[in-house]
Amino acid sequence: MKIAIHHTAADWSFSNYWVEYCRSQKIDYKIVNAYDSDIVEQVQDCDAFMWHHNHMIHKDRLFAKALLFSLETAGIKVFPNFYTGWHFDDKLGQKYLLESIGAPLVPSHAFFDFDTARKWIEETTFPKVFKLRGGSGSTNVMLVKTRKDALKLARKAIKRGIPIYNKRGALKEAFRRYRMGVGHIVEILKAMAHFVLPTPLQRASGKDVGYAYFQDFIPDNRFDIRIIVIGDKAYGIQREVRTGDFRASGSGMIHYDRKYINEQCVKVAFEVSEKLQSQCTGFDFVFDQSGTPLIVEIGYGFVQQAYEACPGYWDRNICWHEGKFNPMGWIVENLKKSDK
Ligand SMILES: Nc1ncnc2c1ncn2[C@@H]1O[C@H](COP(=O)(O)OP(=O)(O)O)[C@@H](O)[C@H]1O
Ligand SMILES: [Mg+2]
Repeated sequence: MKIAIHHTAADWSFSNYWVEYCRSQKIDYKIVNAYDSDIVEQVQDCDAFMWHHNHMIHKDRLFAKALLFSLETAGIKVFPNFYTGWHFDDKLGQKYLLESIGAPLVPSHAFFDFDTARKWIEETTFPKVFKLRGGSGSTNVMLVKTRKDALKLARKAIKRGIPIYNKRGALKEAFRRYRMGVGHIVEILKAMAHFVLPTPLQRASGKDVGYAYFQDFIPDNRFDIRIIVIGDKAYGIQREVRTGDFRASGSGMIHYDRKYINEQCVKVAFEVSEKLQSQCTGFDFVFDQSGTPLIVEIGYGFVQQAYEACPGYWDRNICWHEGKFNPMGWIVENLKKSDK
């Protein structure tokens, strides 16, 4: 078994762990550059190809899924494979997927013409949550308190479009992180600079236009629960919502102790993960008034560093295993074991 790894030497990348794991376990691997035009040729002597592609990197957005699924079609084992990755950074796609498999998704509503959206807005209750299909760290998620605001937003989303890089949100977030003592002044300056000097993502990706996506607002959640399922193992964290806000993702206020994690979420995450046939999925849960966990989004990619302090993991029988573990190594092992 020889594995080709596209390695990104950035903190967020799974490839740091994969390379280290292969080295320490003496697994045959080679580092390849997915951006090379002859990448298909480069992986011909390998049985597997792994790439932690990132939705914030425009180059990755252009072709990572195409390359991975092409190699998969040719019989090379890949991570993330089609079932794991097609819906990554696509909350709209996740709505149809989770509805199709009967997963407990927060009631979600998608509109592709303004008249239909308007009719729904006139009849439904508020507040609602508005989201773009892509984004992370809560950047493209907002609370819509009134019918009037919903109409304005839906008109803009469907007719004129909404930039997928939220400049104002990024600046507000940089200030918040600075006030919390975790952000640096440079982050604020960069966020300010992006008002006049767009990032590559801003320049290339522009606006999302032609749809409006709302979810029912599930109130009174002081935190969300993020569960990661990799094969038959799972681990998780609790993330507090920002002060005076309903959004937890990206808040940086994380609890790791097992007592903070509702095991019902672990159970649901395992069940849904099996139906998804996924190699690795992160599930974000909030709780309704009766305490039932509901999924707000899923995604194969995350920053593993934020989970390093997890004190243990659960197996498929929801049995707890205390102690250090290496989930990125599980990904490699599962790929080795898999027949495709
Ligand atoms: N429908 C909802 N009701 C209540 N809170 C929500 C809802 N959707 C999202 N949230 C909160 O907002 C945060 C960000 O939403 P999410 O869909 O996970 O976007 P992101 O991709 O930015 O993480 C979540 O972590 C959760 O705390
Ligand atoms: Mg999230």
